[in-house]
Amino acid sequence: MSSKRLIIALDFKNFDEMSKFVARLDPNSCVLKVGLQLFISEGNKVLDFLSSKGFDIFLDLKLHDIPNTVGKAIEEIAQFNVLMTTIHLQGGMEMIAAANQAKGRIKILGVTLLTSLDEGDTQMLYSNNFDNQFNNLINVAEKSEVDGIVCSSKELNLLSSSNLIKVVPGIRNQDLSDDQKRVMSSKEAYKNGANYIVVGRPITQSKNIDEAIREYS
Ligand code: C5P
Repeated sequence: MSSKRLIIALDFKNFDEMSKFVARLDPNSCVLKVGLQLFISEGNKVLDFLSSKGFDIFLDLKLHDIPNTVGKAIEEIAQFNVLMTTIHLQGGMEMIAAANQAKGRIKILGVTLLTSLDEGDTQMLYSNNFDNQFNNLINVAEKSEVDGIVCSSKELNLLSSSNLIKVVPGIRNQDLSDDQKRVMSSKEAYKNGANYIVVGRPITQSKNIDEAIREYS
């Protein structure tokens, strides 16, 4: 596993915007996250470009489908130089087994409950409260031997004994008054067991990118 612990989310519209930003980064200081927007707009060439510049890549497509489809999709992802990729734990044991079988050297991270869901959603969807449903998904993660999970900073304290790699978005060192609600500072998140934190706008929109990277590393 790499020693870098800061993942920068490349939430850009297109290749031009992304590559201008990436030109200012050092591959030794961060991992880069490619999400749905950039992957749908520009496709595989983003992965080849970042890899040619020496960056470790986190491909965050949050796959959730029947086992055969997810296995085949992971097989394709495994052709690229990607460090980590995501699937939904809610896809179940068989789907996760198919992903594990196809992953090659790639680390598979299971998404627990999206931070956009709350108690009302878990009651409606699963007739279960949020914490119980979260714990059910952690059981799935542990039994299925995924490499790690994506969870909010709020759930880190429920995971202190787990050996799963913990990847944590929703990090803010200053109040940006944006759409992130359940936030934590980078220092607290690392202290509470995050192996990686995911940071987007506080770095991509910073006036001093180098200083912001130092602050969140
Ligand atoms: O700009 P910001 O720091 O909010 O970006 C966080 C990144 O982490 C975004 O790419 C977002 O999609 C992702 N993310 C998140 N919350 C989750 C899962 C992923 O904010 N639960």
